[in-house]
Amino acid sequence: MEAFVLEAVGGPETLALVERPDPPPPGAGEVLVRLGAASLNYRDLVMLQGGYGSRQKKSGLVPLSDGAGTVVAVGAGVTRFRAGDRVTVSFFQRWLAGYASVSALASDLGRDTDGVLCEYRIFHEDGLVRTPTFLTDIEAASLPCAAVTAWSAIVDYGCAAPGDIVLVQGTGGVALFALQFARLCGAEVIVTSSSDEKLGRAAVLGAHHLINYRQDTEWGRTALTLTEGRGVDNVIELGGADTFKQSIRAVRLGGMIALIGVLGGARVDLLVPLIGSRNVRVQGVTVGTRAALEAMLRAMELHRVKPVIDRVFPFADARAAFEYLALGRHFGKVCIAIG
Ligand SMILES: NC(=O)c1ccc[n+]([C@@H]2O[C@H](COP(=O)([O-])OP(=O)(O)OC[C@H]3O[C@@H](n4cnc5c(N)ncnc54)[C@H](OP(=O)(O)O)[C@@H]3O)[C@@H](O)[C@H]2O)c1
Repeated sequence: MEAFVLEAVGGPETLALVERPDPPPPGAGEVLVRLGAASLNYRDLVMLQGGYGSRQKKSGLVPLSDGAGTVVAVGAGVTRFRAGDRVTVSFFQRWLAGYASVSALASDLGRDTDGVLCEYRIFHEDGLVRTPTFLTDIEAASLPCAAVTAWSAIVDYGCAAPGDIVLVQGTGGVALFALQFARLCGAEVIVTSSSDEKLGRAAVLGAHHLINYRQDTEWGRTALTLTEGRGVDNVIELGGADTFKQSIRAVRLGGMIALIGVLGGARVDLLVPLIGSRNVRVQGVTVGTRAALEAMLRAMELHRVKPVIDRVFPFADARAAFEYLALGRHFGKVCIAIG
């Protein structure tokens, strides 16, 4: 089979298309999947540069965590799937439900374990969920990391209710899923972006208020004004160092900041009382559980929520997909069709 392999850290040019032996027949509890699609996340760019922590494999790694495909064969004792089932990969292969364990949080793919940028791969049956029929493989592959993160932040931690106000930063993968799920819960949504053209597209998706964060660097105050001084219930915090202070400004007393991304840097100089004395809840979010993925899929199917796919690259052009993501011009998800 063909697979892309990170030969050394650097950039997309260090990805090599190689021939690898086909996987052996699946063992007990295992499932052999023919991958139909994969999607890219910001983490995968960091991974190419070797910046994803000491555990990251720096050479010989098949990248990408997010994929979907079709079951080819199952091993002894497998009960969740049979050959021919369409399946989606769960981001943390061993975080099924409840609180995370250290081992569960070490079970993401494309970091120290081979990922999904290949034609065939064996998974434990616990690491997969059934793909709903209304989603294509490309659409399903866009979900495991970005959509589950947004679902955890909006629904599981954020407990979004009709009338809540949610602020979403940017128009990348996590951001647009957060916009869609916030709307699904009946919330009012403020979207920030560096691009007026992207803001226009966010409005079509249902955003109520639009702020260009390049033109309006004090957008936290603008969010306060938009909410008549009340502040927003939940900030989907993706910019890190670039945005956290504005997020604190924008959030209401007792509101939540879902701490997810570090697009603008990881270190922040903080005035702690602005959080403590205002009862702000800063909630770290690390993607989510398989149960969250399944609950999200049920909601998406019921309400016919389709992922926003910006662009699909053929398997052979996987390097170009990474280069395109790095440009930051995308609106939603960048995917790769396999096979
Ligand atoms: N904690 C977790 O579990 C988790 C899970 C998934 C992702 N993440 C993190 O969340 C972040 C977003 O990931 P993603 O995959 O959604 O990325 P992405 O699809 O590449 O989205 C990037 C978009 O974010 C906006 N952006 C870029 N720099 C920004 C800044 N300094 N301030 C505000 N917005 C900025 C831009 O939108 P505009 O072009 O509209 O300006 C850009 O297009 C990354 O830091 C990623 O590592 C964390």
